[in-house]
Amino acid sequence: MSSLRPVTHVSTAHRQKEGGGFIVRRPFPTQGLDHLDPLLMLDELGPIVYGPGEAIGAPDHPHRGFETVTYILDGESAHADSAGHAGTLTAGDVQWMTAGAGVVHREMPSLRMQREGGRMHGFQLWVNLPRAEKRVAPRYQEIASSTIPTATSPDGLATVRVIAGEALGVSSVIATRTPILYHHWTLAPGATVTVALPPDARVGVYVFEGAVTVSGVVVGDGQLAVLGDGDTVTLSADVASSALVIGGKPLREPIAWGGPFVMNTREEVMQAYADFRAGKMGAIPPEIVRA
Ligand code: FE2
Repeated sequence: MSSLRPVTHVSTAHRQKEGGGFIVRRPFPTQGLDHLDPLLMLDELGPIVYGPGEAIGAPDHPHRGFETVTYILDGESAHADSAGHAGTLTAGDVQWMTAGAGVVHREMPSLRMQREGGRMHGFQLWVNLPRAEKRVAPRYQEIASSTIPTATSPDGLATVRVIAGEALGVSSVIATRTPILYHHWTLAPGATVTVALPPDARVGVYVFEGAVTVSGVVVGDGQLAVLGDGDTVTLSADVASSALVIGGKPLREPIAWGGPFVMNTREEVMQAYADFRAGKMGAIPPEIVRA
């Protein structure tokens, strides 16, 4: 017998400056919602249309103790890191970066976008790592848009891209270190879909276009609904709408967060700063930085 997960809290994203000065919508952490354990942060970048010379990104900076997941809906994001990875993400692509023990990376609009401008829209999700995995070797998974599995609801009106976890019986191609789910739902007017969710996952639904009725509660553009216990959620929409369903199995560990480092204790964060300053997280090899 399945049970519907109720909405227990609705968080409204605030706007915040990040990186080199671009604006994001951030449904958590925000007032009233510190995190969605094991998820630490969700940022929506844009949508914004840059003019020539206007596009900005995040120049070289370190991370340790968690994973950054970048999902591009529009535009081109060029990245490079101290482990020697470099590439450009375009519409629909995902980069799942396990910072682990430490990387230095940069996330910039492509040189073409910096020169010509254009529309940028995307997400960055921070996924925490358990204590035992905070110092694992950095890993990098890049998933081209064409390889992300998709599924369609029985009514044909809701489609999902399965970035992590499972939806409508379809499994993601990304390997996550702990159970994580990350769905991108697109709902046409009149769509209704029931989505099975792992009962042990903490889950949120972030609406970023239109309005979605989540287990009977209307959730607007820029709002995140936190779900309570159960094993399904219903999503429906009267207008064209888009939402992320994100979550994972909670770690239930202390969180010590200092800037780009997320550890379990304050001392570990101070150690991360010391290691970064001492150059132990490396530097981006100049020869890999390109468009
Ligand atoms: Fe970063």
